[in-house]
Amino acid sequence: MNPIKTVLSVETSCDDTSVAIVETGGNVICQVSANQDLAHAPFGGVVPEIASRNHSVALLPLIQLALEKAHLTLNDIHGLAVTNRPGLIGSLIVGIMTMKSIAQAHKIPLIGVNHLEGHLLAPFLKDKDYAPPDQFGYPYIALAVSGGHSSLYWVTGLGEYTVIGTTKDDAAGEAFDKFAKMIGLPYPGGVQVDRTSQGGDVKKFDFPRSLVLEDNLMFSFSGVKSSAHRLVSKMSPEEIEANRKDLCASFQEAIVDVLIKKTLSAAQRFHSYKIVITGGVSANSRLREKAQAMAAKHNFQLVIPPLRYCTDNAAMIGYAGLLRLQRGETSTLAMGPSSQLLEDDFKFDLQ
Ligand code: KG4
Ligand code: ZN
Repeated sequence: MNPIKTVLSVETSCDDTSVAIVETGGNVICQVSANQDLAHAPFGGVVPEIASRNHSVALLPLIQLALEKAHLTLNDIHGLAVTNRPGLIGSLIVGIMTMKSIAQAHKIPLIGVNHLEGHLLAPFLKDKDYAPPDQFGYPYIALAVSGGHSSLYWVTGLGEYTVIGTTKDDAAGEAFDKFAKMIGLPYPGGVQVDRTSQGGDVKKFDFPRSLVLEDNLMFSFSGVKSSAHRLVSKMSPEEIEANRKDLCASFQEAIVDVLIKKTLSAAQRFHSYKIVITGGVSANSRLREKAQAMAAKHNFQLVIPPLRYCTDNAAMIGYAGLLRLQRGETSTLAMGPSSQLLEDDFKFDLQ
């Protein structure tokens, strides 16, 4: 019998402090998170030192809160999972040192988790309000789009992730955030662009769809960003204000068109009828709308986990850690943070 059934997990790779307790089967008993958006907003982006400092303030109280909410103590926890790569080093250190201390003091097995593996396994998470559709399982195409990553994966099993397409430059979320800044919207910009675009004209401004006609699964978002910069720098503040809705709608449409086109192409190349979209940008209303339309047209099973499991969160780290601990893997107390992935985290078969 496998003794590891309940895992306490921590995610501190960027600016969200998140703690979860996850059981066998991906059942999330509870997840509590602290968002740092207000602390970083005055700087227009994440300030690594502020992020680490805030993690160190929030983390232990959140661990305590998660255990209280679950009516559990550390004696009920069979395993510990913590993001140890990739991410901001100072932020990762806070999570890792905290979990190493708990592991040592309570003699609980510990595993360091690849943050991106967490995103890729998020579609399996469930709780009292959400469950993935029946018959969802490997293999599937996953589009992971956030502030730090924009890649397509072919996911065939636990630890079997092939990167089949990725961005040559900016991530999609980064492009949204930079564009928002250009037109004077506050940080974090993606959600503001989404909101402002409602009712805007998607055809008013003609932004480039980079690489969309190329027969590959690569992304590039620096062209659309530079094109927006050239356009906006020629506009007066009044003109920007008057056109903000249409600017947002047109910019968003350019990004979403590319994401949808490449995801469809990935599904067709790999003969997959299952598609997962995850990461913070999956919150985008236009991306969801167009992904749903694509799925309906081509008869795909589309899974977009609820936002609490799409943005950076500890439940996805707990589930990945649980599966690996159950497989007999553990990390030692000498585990450290890494800003990079490990060599065998992913296979590459760029299409
Ligand atoms: O996954 P996430 O919370 O953190 C990481 O970057 O790992 O993703 C945050 C990113 C930011 O770039 C944010 O602007 C973007 O996701 N985002 C959105 C929306 N909500 C968040 N982008 C477009 N539309 C949205 N509704
Ligand atoms: Zn992430």
